[in-house]
Amino acid sequence: MDSSFVKPLILWYNENSRTLPWRGVRDPYRIWISEIMLQQTRVESVVDYYLRFIEALPDVYALAECPEDGLLKLWEGLGYYSRARNLQKAARVLCEQYGGQLPRTASELKCLPGIGSYTAGAIASIAFGEAEPAVDGNVLRVYARLTELEDDIMRDAVRKRVRDELRSAYPEADGSWGLLNQAFMDLGSGICRANTRPDCDRCPLSSLCLSHKDRREKDFPIREAKTKRHDEKRTVFLIRSGGRFALAKRPPEGLLANLYEFPSCGGWLDPDEVKTYFADRGFQVLDVKPLPESKHVFSHLTWRMCAYAVDIASRGSFRNWIFVKPCDIQKQFPVPSAFARYLAYLNETG
Ligand code: ADE
Repeated sequence: MDSSFVKPLILWYNENSRTLPWRGVRDPYRIWISEIMLQQTRVESVVDYYLRFIEALPDVYALAECPEDGLLKLWEGLGYYSRARNLQKAARVLCEQYGGQLPRTASELKCLPGIGSYTAGAIASIAFGEAEPAVDGNVLRVYARLTELEDDIMRDAVRKRVRDELRSAYPEADGSWGLLNQAFMDLGSGICRANTRPDCDRCPLSSLCLSHKDRREKDFPIREAKTKRHDEKRTVFLIRSGGRFALAKRPPEGLLANLYEFPSCGGWLDPDEVKTYFADRGFQVLDVKPLPESKHVFSHLTWRMCAYAVDIASRGSFRNWIFVKPCDIQKQFPVPSAFARYLAYLNETG
């Protein structure tokens, strides 16, 4: 690829870069945390989480030692919780094998849990000044429009080719590789946008852009249709006894692993079926009240939830259920935002 895009892009970034709390710092730990949070998550949603996380866990040792519930609590609402677990796994590797320091090259960074090519390129370039591209969806979109890339950007081989092409242009950036990567990110999210019309009038690369010349910006990037999400119906129970509500810890593997949830069952039960469900499990039910339905969309699955507040006479012990005061749920127990509607109910009822 020819490198004529490099200089205008860096000039534009110097004038237009967003002010963000992880910019202007050189602490690789902070850059790492920000890049992991920014995977699959918009910048605006990340800022507060990032600041809170860095205050609670200011270095790799604090992260390595943090109890898992506390870590997941800091991540609560950000989604894709395996990112948090991988961060901690990687922090432990860094403490045990790297003297608490992040390695300086993308190829070494990629060996750590949770760090793929994109994140490795971002950290290596921003924190350590390596001439390595960081190719995410934003960069692929800019590149595909710039060059009228006719290949499917969802394919790994295509992504690798884009990385290789970009790498060949990087020497032109003359030591500003972290800036160049961040310039691509800002251009992709602010100007060469995904879901609204690109703002080509403000784009520093419009005179070089093939798809702009041909008025075909909307034709790129090309991506194959995503596999369809499937729906799963669930019935969620807010089970109350003596002012406490039942929570259950999810299994250690799979969706939302090790997070806490309100007990639930597959399918949609009506109020009589709810009474039978609890009676069959040895509970004396005092009251069953329907709550609003809600849904939560995961990458591969949508939960369609109906819910009931269920008052029971006494708690006994059942499965792994624990009964917790609402204020303690809020303070200590990481509950995924799939249950946000019901957490709000619980806080309303106290
Ligand atoms: N998206 C991913 N990494 C980013 C960064 N460093 N700045 C802004 N947006 C990003």
